[in-house]
Amino acid sequence: MTAQVQIVFYSMYGHVYKLAEAVAAGAREVEGVEVSLYQVPELVSEEVLARSGATAARATFAHVAVAQPEQLTEADAIIFGTPTRFGNMCAQMRNFLDQTGQLWARGALIGKVGSVFTSTATQHGGQETTITSFHSTLLHHGMMVVGVPYSEQRLLNMNEITGGSPYGASTLAGGDGSRQPSENELEIARFQGRHVAQIARKLKG
Ligand SMILES: Cc1cc2nc3c(=O)[nH]c(=O)nc-3n(C[C@H](O)[C@H](O)[C@H](O)COP(=O)(O)O)c2cc1C
Repeated sequence: MTAQVQIVFYSMYGHVYKLAEAVAAGAREVEGVEVSLYQVPELVSEEVLARSGATAARATFAHVAVAQPEQLTEADAIIFGTPTRFGNMCAQMRNFLDQTGQLWARGALIGKVGSVFTSTATQHGGQETTITSFHSTLLHHGMMVVGVPYSEQRLLNMNEITGGSPYGASTLAGGDGSRQPSENELEIARFQGRHVAQIARKLKG
C-alpha cells in the first residue's frame, strides 16, 4: 500500500516554499510513497502583503493547493514548514493547527509521523525554538516526531554559515530576505523528506 506524505507549509517571501519543494523532492525518491504539497491559508490582506514586499514571492507558489484540516487524516506522515516569528511558528500555521481540535478529539492523527522545517532571518533567530515548540502540538496530537539524524553529515558542515539541525531542515533568509537556501540547506531538506518518507513507508507495512 502506498504511504501518503503531505508537506504543509506557510511562506511569505518564498524561502520556506523552496525548502518545501526540496523536502518533497527527497520524499519522492522513496518508492511506494505519494507526496502532496499544500500551503495553509493566508491571513494577511493583499494590500499588507504588497506593502511588505511579498506579492512577487507569493505568486511563485500561488499554484500550490490550500490545505484543509480534515485532509491531514489521509496522511501517514505530515512535514510542516513555517517561517520563524519571534522564535515561534507563524500565525498562519498556528491558525491552521488551531482548527484541528476536532481531529484531536477523534484522535485522528495518532500514530502519524510528524516533522518540521523552518526559516529565520538570522543565524540565531530561533530556528531550534521554532521547531521544538512546534513539536508540542504534534505530540498533543499523538504524532511520532522525526527530525534529521546526524547520518546526514551536512549537519556537521563548518565551512559555511548554514541552517539545518537534528530538529529539522532550515535556512537563513537574511535581514532583507535576499539570501536564498544554500545547496547544503536544500540537501538537508531533501534528506528530511526522504527520511520521513522511508519511516512512513516502513510503518505502512
Ligand atoms: C513578525 C515577524 C517576526 C519575525 N521574527 C523573527 C525571529 O524571531 N527571528 C528571525 O531570525 N527572523 C524573524 N523574522 C524573519 C522571518 O523568519 C523571515 O522573513 C522568514 O524566515 C522568511 O521565510 P519566508 O521567505 O518563507 O517567508 C520575523 C519576521 C516577521 C515578519
